[in-house]
Amino acid sequence: MSSAPQAAPAKPQGGGHPFLSDIKELRRRAREHISQGAVTPGYHADRETVVKLLNEALATEIVCVLRYKRHHFMAKGIHAEGVAAEFLEHAQDEQQHADQIAGRITQLGGEPDFSPDGLATRSHAEYVEGDTLEDMIKEDLVAERIAIDSYKEIILYLGENDPTSRRLMEEILAKEEEHADDLANLLEDLGHR
Ligand SMILES: [Fe+2]
Ligand SMILES: [Fe+2]
Repeated sequence: MSSAPQAAPAKPQGGGHPFLSDIKELRRRAREHISQGAVTPGYHADRETVVKLLNEALATEIVCVLRYKRHHFMAKGIHAEGVAAEFLEHAQDEQQHADQIAGRITQLGGEPDFSPDGLATRSHAEYVEGDTLEDMIKEDLVAERIAIDSYKEIILYLGENDPTSRRLMEEILAKEEEHADDLANLLEDLGHR
């Protein structure tokens, strides 16, 4: 490991506390726990619980990928083309969310759980096939609403203790709200045809 570049000479700040020593202290602490990756002593969350919650969100995303893929390939009928394309787009978004969450889990020193065993139990949202195009859209809307509620809970829990995970979940939440909106519009369109 190369040594850090030399900092500029210290200038006493308010209260006469030299700024340099703060930087030195921060660097010392960062090195002390270097094997913990992104988890620094300034990390205030309960890491195990955060990893568990993120793994539940990961399972939710994977189940959503599978459900949207099923719906994409099964969408039939005169109105199906646009809807099938929407399902595929959502499946791709959910896959991206799964990857982002898995990446954050490893940053926290945890292991992303991709095991198919118990996947449906870990997931908050359900895998429902649905018989008609309308059923599929309704089931997807229900799943999005469940994801929205449970992600809001996770975000509240993370609060100020893990702002990086919180921001990630907030970004994903915004996308799920968009998905729910898309689905509500599709349902309405379907009703008017
Ligand atoms: Fe998602
Ligand atoms: Fe979604």
